[in-house]
Amino acid sequence: MIGRDPDHPIAETGADGQPDPSARLTVGTRVVVRQRLVDTPEAGATDVIGRLAVRTDDVLVIDTRRGRVAVPRRDVVAAKPVPPPATRPGPAHLRVSVDDLALVAAQGWVAVEQAALGSWLLRSAPGYTGRANSVLVVGDPGVPLDSAFDHCEQWYADRDQTTMFQVSGPARFTIADHPVAQALVERGYTVGGGRPDWSRVLVMTGPSAGLPSPTDTSPQVLAEKTLSEEWLRAYSEGRTPVPGITEAVLTGSERQLFLSIREDPNGRIIAVARLALHAGWAGVFGLWVHPDHRRQGLARRVMATVGTIARENRMPAIYLQVSEDNDAAIAMYEALGFTVHHEYTYLVQPST
Ligand SMILES: CC(C)(COP(=O)(O)OP(=O)(O)OC[C@H]1O[C@@H](n2cnc3c(N)ncnc32)[C@H](O)[C@@H]1OP(=O)(O)O)[C@@H](O)C(=O)NCCC(=O)NCCS
Repeated sequence: MIGRDPDHPIAETGADGQPDPSARLTVGTRVVVRQRLVDTPEAGATDVIGRLAVRTDDVLVIDTRRGRVAVPRRDVVAAKPVPPPATRPGPAHLRVSVDDLALVAAQGWVAVEQAALGSWLLRSAPGYTGRANSVLVVGDPGVPLDSAFDHCEQWYADRDQTTMFQVSGPARFTIADHPVAQALVERGYTVGGGRPDWSRVLVMTGPSAGLPSPTDTSPQVLAEKTLSEEWLRAYSEGRTPVPGITEAVLTGSERQLFLSIREDPNGRIIAVARLALHAGWAGVFGLWVHPDHRRQGLARRVMATVGTIARENRMPAIYLQVSEDNDAAIAMYEALGFTVHHEYTYLVQPST
């Protein structure tokens, strides 16, 4: 096995050695925690729902709609991740907010090192992808914008990295629509830093119910929990890996699956995708088909398996991220029922 261990991401017992229901919660995700009420005359429990901001050995800090709540871990009776709330009517893949889906997607692609600044998330995985090496701008950084920018620039300078911000907005949003993006441009930042694939990325979503079911004659798709050397080798034909870092990012989510199709039962891998599994959502990453085997329905076949896995795991909604200039992939996703939920762009620090 390579990368991070899928079955033991975090400790599963509390300080007293008892099974700890909160051990498997990931910081940054939306959770519901049932808390035993110890100071009330009658025994009872209450549910705390919100984003898990901090977890220490003793306490869970949860950002709820009514503010921050600290729950002692010894009083946690049950805990589980839950999907982000609906912010408008409609099917699950459309009713989530831009920021909430950006946070879900960030849990699907976890950097090697992460730090919070208010609601912003600073991420570093040197040399490997914009998403894992940029500040995810969601909500409020908790300090004035200029101080937030200074803090982020220092954080990346300490790591010998250029500072980048990932800013999200509704489809076709412009820099002028986005106060943080606008302030960064005024600070000298450039959109995409000269890379067309970083200028505008579409976050597309679709219903898992809308994906076709595999047929008896379609090639077999293998779904594995662990990252194999062979899967990584095939994946690396489509993009340049950074040894050690790529494996860590690919295996860094709470739950992920590595999908592959072989040329024949004992042949080489000719199609891959990585699936991140969340409460209510599945995320597709790194879909790639060998150039000699394109337009033969292999990507559609992989997506059919994505649909099957999502439906089996009660995930009605699927997200993926695709550069605006990737016409082939966008055509395919649209043919499968995906639409643009929102977009993001990278703002890149000017070189000095
Ligand atoms: C995008 C990609 C995965 C598609 O794989 P594929 O196996 O060739 O796709 P499929 O044969 O399953 O195509 C399904 C449908 O998608 C659309 N499509 C796929 N490639 C297309 C292209 N080059 N131009 C236009 N439409 C295309 C078509 O609607 C197609 O159905 P059709 O062949 O019946 O017309 C493949 O081109 C690839 O690996 N590209 C490089 C990596 C990449 O961009 N991945 C996506 C990251 S988000």
